[in-house]
Amino acid sequence: MSGPTAESARPEAGEGAALAEPVAELSDITRLYRMGEEEVRALDEFSFTFRQGEYWAIMGSSGSGKSTLLNILGCVDRPTVGSYRVRDQEVADLDDDELSTFRGAELGFIFQSYNLIPQLDVLENILMPVMYQDEIPDGIEDRALELAKRVGLGDRLHHRPMQLSGGQQQRVAIARSLINDPALILADEATGNLDSKTANEILELFDELHAEGKTILLVTHEAEVGRRAENILRLKDGNIDSVERGAGRVEASDAE
Ligand SMILES: Nc1ncnc2c1ncn2[C@@H]1O[C@H](COP(=O)(O)OP(=O)(O)OP(=O)(O)O)[C@@H](O)[C@H]1O
Ligand SMILES: [Mg+2]
Repeated sequence: MSGPTAESARPEAGEGAALAEPVAELSDITRLYRMGEEEVRALDEFSFTFRQGEYWAIMGSSGSGKSTLLNILGCVDRPTVGSYRVRDQEVADLDDDELSTFRGAELGFIFQSYNLIPQLDVLENILMPVMYQDEIPDGIEDRALELAKRVGLGDRLHHRPMQLSGGQQQRVAIARSLINDPALILADEATGNLDSKTANEILELFDELHAEGKTILLVTHEAEVGRRAENILRLKDGNIDSVERGAGRVEASDAE
């Protein structure tokens, strides 16, 4: 139990290179599942720092801990031990109510199955995360309208999810993830249900968000999708297998 501390284990804490600010800092995170007598270490003393403006694909074989990591990053699960800070907030210090407010304000989610509310139209779905905030910001409806246009749904504002294609539904989910201008955009197999042309359109939107300086973490099984991200973090047995920075980034125009 006398391994390196989180501080000494963090390679980038050293020299004065101009690194972007940390957005999500995970230090010695372990997530243990107990199944009767058996213990599964879904994450095992995992430490990593994601910085402002980075675009990461999180990859690794089935069971390597990707969803566990994304759930912790997204504050839908808490680590068994370890520290997770988003900007300057230690997540462990928040009680459950504070955590759900924090989650809505700071984290944008995009899921494989879109997770839109069927009774609500495009604009209302985009506004959903705001409903969980203590205060409704001024001009938020204009912002929702702008985001709808931004993702190419300016002419579908009052359609319900059932009246949209899969790609359009995922565009709504992307707009929804942006409504509170979150610190982190988290996507779990965001293109997994889409044909390759539509998936490419969604990835182009991620490229644009990345170019605007957003911080994006995307779990994917698909090498093709991983190559579109700026960096690849590979997991194995609940820890880091490899870190590829600037790995073979493919520009949208090259992919055609
Ligand atoms: N609720 C749970 N109870 C017990 N064990 C769990 C639970 N959730 C995950 N695990 C175990 O933790 C490990 C990591 O699971 P995780 O879901 O994070 O993998 P993953 O990388 O997302 O895999 P996949 O690519 O199949 O989605 C696996 O061994 C899994 O069996
Ligand atoms: Mg998973």
